[in-house]
Amino acid sequence: MDFSELIHKRRMTRSFLVDPVPAETLNRILDSARRVPSAGNTQGFDFVVLEGAETERYWDVTLPPDRREKFRWQGLLRAPVLVTIWADPNAYLKRYGQQDKVHSGLGDDVDAWVTPYWVVDSGFAAMAMQMAAINEGLGVLFFGMFDHANGLAQVLRVPSDRTPIGTIALGWPDDVDNTLGRSALRERRPLEGGAKSVVHRGSW
Ligand SMILES: Cc1cc2nc3c(=O)[nH]c(=O)nc-3n(C[C@H](O)[C@H](O)[C@H](O)COP(=O)(O)O)c2cc1C
Repeated sequence: MDFSELIHKRRMTRSFLVDPVPAETLNRILDSARRVPSAGNTQGFDFVVLEGAETERYWDVTLPPDRREKFRWQGLLRAPVLVTIWADPNAYLKRYGQQDKVHSGLGDDVDAWVTPYWVVDSGFAAMAMQMAAINEGLGVLFFGMFDHANGLAQVLRVPSDRTPIGTIALGWPDDVDNTLGRSALRERRPLEGGAKSVVHRGSW
């Protein structure tokens, strides 16, 4: 897909077909995600990938069976792949304590970081993963783990020092049942001109 088309047509998908994603396709998507830039080339992100029946382990934690029936996005439960993304703050402390970075003073304490780059880099990886998936003709939804993060970390055996970033559901979009989420109906902020503009040239 042409890059401009990809950017302009991209929307979140909340209803999927049950059809599995071929292994080669999924591998290409995961490989794209790990190629993003990262601070100090730390690459402090990990992906826990659940496929097919394994995705039930995710929903069992976040949406117990008694609440499942009333869930608004039934087609999301069909997503054949769920990827949870976890950031590794300690990898950044370690990297910025190394000889070429120690002058930064960022090697000792996460609170010294004005911007937590482990979150930035993991966000880049999440975006690359979504773009790569859409480029393959798949649909995606990035969504939060919220207060289920600890429960998921336990079930998925994620080390306790990792920061939850979010989950990406991947699969072939179910175009018959694919209504936009409520938030997606909010107007996109204008590029510039007016109080709501995104771009501030020269100064705010
Ligand atoms: C950090 C982040 C968290 C999100 N969390 C959720 C979520 O928990 N549930 C959900 O349905 N959508 C979630 N979304 C999707 C947004 O609602 C969606 O991107 C936004 O409404 C714009 O719609 P669009 O992506 O289709 O253009 C999230 C998106 C981002 C970037």
